[in-house]
Amino acid sequence: MKSGFPHFMLKEIFEQPDVIHHAIHSITEETLPQSLLNANSIMVVGCGSSYHAGMIFRYLLESACGIPVRLELGSEYKYSAVPFNDVIIGVSQSGETADTLAAIKKGICNNVKTVAVTNVLNSSITRSAHDTLLMHAGPEISVASSKSFIAQVGVLMQVINLLAGGTCTEALSHARQAIEQILITDLSKAVDLCSNAEHLFYVGRGVFYPVMMEGALKMKEISYIHAEAYAAGELKHGPFALLSPQTPVIAVCVPGTAYEVMLGNLKEMKSRGTPLIALGIQDDIDLNDIADILIPVPEAHPWIQVLTTTVLLQLLAYHTADSLGREIDMPRNLAKSVTVE
Ligand code: F6R
Repeated sequence: MKSGFPHFMLKEIFEQPDVIHHAIHSITEETLPQSLLNANSIMVVGCGSSYHAGMIFRYLLESACGIPVRLELGSEYKYSAVPFNDVIIGVSQSGETADTLAAIKKGICNNVKTVAVTNVLNSSITRSAHDTLLMHAGPEISVASSKSFIAQVGVLMQVINLLAGGTCTEALSHARQAIEQILITDLSKAVDLCSNAEHLFYVGRGVFYPVMMEGALKMKEISYIHAEAYAAGELKHGPFALLSPQTPVIAVCVPGTAYEVMLGNLKEMKSRGTPLIALGIQDDIDLNDIADILIPVPEAHPWIQVLTTTVLLQLLAYHTADSLGREIDMPRNLAKSVTVE
């Protein structure tokens, strides 16, 4: 049932205030696997959006707890000659992704403790891994993930919060309301710009780099527009050659450690004539000066801004795809779960 929404994807995007709340509260000190409490280092593995959730985990865990994180694509870990010997977290909404499952099994063969983060109880990954953290997002019908991604990030944030002694509990208590608040953001100008483009660049720094990777993936899979994400500092190492008035750039530039350098990067991009859609603070004068379109991100703890920017980019992809008349819930050539390597 779409409950009055034109597509399951939009319905699932709008479920996210509740989904984040349940995901965060599903993990407690009592349910946190002992292997994570004892970990000196953690490997996280996943595919597609789940890999992006793992990448967010890496940035946040390393900075909150100083625990080193190795990040692997499920499809590539099998080629690694240096197996990991501490705890492996496999992130998989469906729990059936062959490559993520293979990485968990490789860990088990090497006597490594494994933890599954999944949405599906009794899925293959839960049957293989030593421990399971369930996301409780409810069934996701749309092929492109939205609420399951937010739930993965919510579970992983709560794991970090607990490992860090609850330092972010207060921040996380605002997650539900923060997402609710941005669901009604007017994105029409940004949608106009994107739906007329053939190529889009998504840029961010630090933890907002995987947020942009996820935003670009969403845009390409449902709108079929070529969207590429880059770490903002990497553009001048090659991709700058592609910038032109025909290649809009979408960037996150919120106050924080990366703010000044990000602003500098955006000025360099603007000088190549690129239209700029910036996600940032509404009354940021410097950003307003250079952005053609500013999508407002409420001031909040950085973890909350990871969530709100993610949802804004889901909505941008959704409305762009909708304005182009795309299939949205069942994009061409894609399947909801990928059970072959
Ligand atoms: C993107 C998307 C895919 C999945 C990927 C992994 O919107 O849904 O990239 O994230 O196929 O799937 P799971 O999480 O089921 O292992």
